[in-house]
Amino acid sequence: MGNITISEVKKDHYVRVFLGAADNNFAAIGYKEHGLRHAKLASNIAGNVLTYLNFSKRDIELAQIAGYLHDIGNSIEMHQHTLSGAILSKRFLQRMGMHNNELAKIITAVGSHEEKDIMPGSELTAAVILGDKTDVHHSRVRTEKRTGLDEHTRVNLACKNSFLRVDAESKTISLELTIDTKIIDIGEYFETFLERMLQLKKASNYLKCMFVLYVNKNKFL
Ligand SMILES: [Fe+2]
Ligand SMILES: [Fe+2]
Repeated sequence: MGNITISEVKKDHYVRVFLGAADNNFAAIGYKEHGLRHAKLASNIAGNVLTYLNFSKRDIELAQIAGYLHDIGNSIEMHQHTLSGAILSKRFLQRMGMHNNELAKIITAVGSHEEKDIMPGSELTAAVILGDKTDVHHSRVRTEKRTGLDEHTRVNLACKNSFLRVDAESKTISLELTIDTKIIDIGEYFETFLERMLQLKKASNYLKCMFVLYVNKNKFL
């Protein structure tokens, strides 16, 4: 038993294989990138959010671990990936020797990261939602096609830049997006991603922060 680190999790053979399988599963259906790149980004952002809000070093590391593993359940299938991801994460981290109280925190965050109707149940969950739901980027789109795409893919394709800014002093978490309005207009963006923005707002509020959205430097929420 000991403090399992994010670098140990990243190096773990099973974690690597299952994250690769999750991405392959999504590649097969043409769905956007959900592998190592997304895992690393969600992990970094989840950790950064708690860093800027002055959480303990260990909470930051647990957020990094939960962020890294949050979508590993997609290796099985996507509709219940939160549940399967929580169970897989528990198996992997238990085998590595993680303490039970930390395991419980991780499986809650992984298992609840898609919740839409309720407030996140923990700071770690809120951090993972912020890490996950801010990853909107054209590089996640795999298809070369530029016509007949669904709205979700078009939003990702249109998003040239995405940055999450955390300001502890003003207690504000801002998502700054640069959208190519030749690909999608702002109205369509909101139609497609409103639910996601509300998840980000709830997560920010749980961390006692306001959520602000900027699209092409205009303030929207
Ligand atoms: Fe997910
Ligand atoms: Fe995700």
